[in-house]
Amino acid sequence: MLTVQGLSVNHGAVQALRSVDFCVPPGQVLTVLGRNGSGRSTLARALMGLTPAQGRVRWMGQDLLGLEPHQIARLGVGYVPETRDVFSLLSVEQNLQLGLRGKPDRDRIAWAYEQFPQLHARRQTPAGLLSGGEQQMLSLIRSLLARPRLLIVDEPAEGLAPQMVQAVAHLMRQQVKAGTAIVLMEQKLDLALDLADRVLLLGRSEVVFEGTPEQLLGAKVLRERWLEV
Ligand SMILES: Nc1ncnc2c1ncn2[C@@H]1O[C@H](COP(=O)(O)OP(=O)(O)OP(=O)(O)O)[C@@H](O)[C@H]1O
Ligand SMILES: [Mg+2]
Repeated sequence: MLTVQGLSVNHGAVQALRSVDFCVPPGQVLTVLGRNGSGRSTLARALMGLTPAQGRVRWMGQDLLGLEPHQIARLGVGYVPETRDVFSLLSVEQNLQLGLRGKPDRDRIAWAYEQFPQLHARRQTPAGLLSGGEQQMLSLIRSLLARPRLLIVDEPAEGLAPQMVQAVAHLMRQQVKAGTAIVLMEQKLDLALDLADRVLLLGRSEVVFEGTPEQLLGAKVLRERWLEV
């Protein structure tokens, strides 16, 4: 269970996140919605120890705030940043091998290619030469190879063709079935609501709604104010 209490982040004089509270049990998806600049990526980075934050983040009986990103990763937390996180000079296959954290496993690599056959066709290609969408798939699947128990994923479907968005959704469902807790930052309302057990809506750096997808669909005024253009 991930438990977040009073999480705040300041960028100098700008408060990017104001006292955010939520929890995510194993096998559930919390989607974080909000307009551009509402603080979703800041939240993801704070959870992963990539930006200084105040408050409390508990995961597997440990306090995460103050830990280094690699220490947090070692506690079974996977992170897929908004900027695709690939090693440009390494091949697709070498990138995948790094996801296994030094435990070679042909079956897992084969599983990764099954999810995204496109990557298999380009397995010897330096990751830096892939298209943006392919880099995104590589970044996502590499993080899953480490079998995270908590996955923080920042707009995984951004810029992907509809068919690939479905592949991403399928992967997320598969992770959830295996008991992984997911915090999904997402702009696409249909995908966000489709995958979510609960939804958190960020206004300007603070939570303006927390509830089920059905409740958010019913809250027209909230959606108009904080989500729709
Ligand atoms: N390193 C930083 N220094 C100063 N301000 C920052 C920094 N990072 C983010 N901000 C500001 O914090 C606010 C939240 O940014 P964040 O990237 O979390 O938004 P977001 O919801 O992920 O939006 P999007 O992904 O659509 O850009 C924005 O106003 C942004 O300009
Ligand atoms: Mg963002």
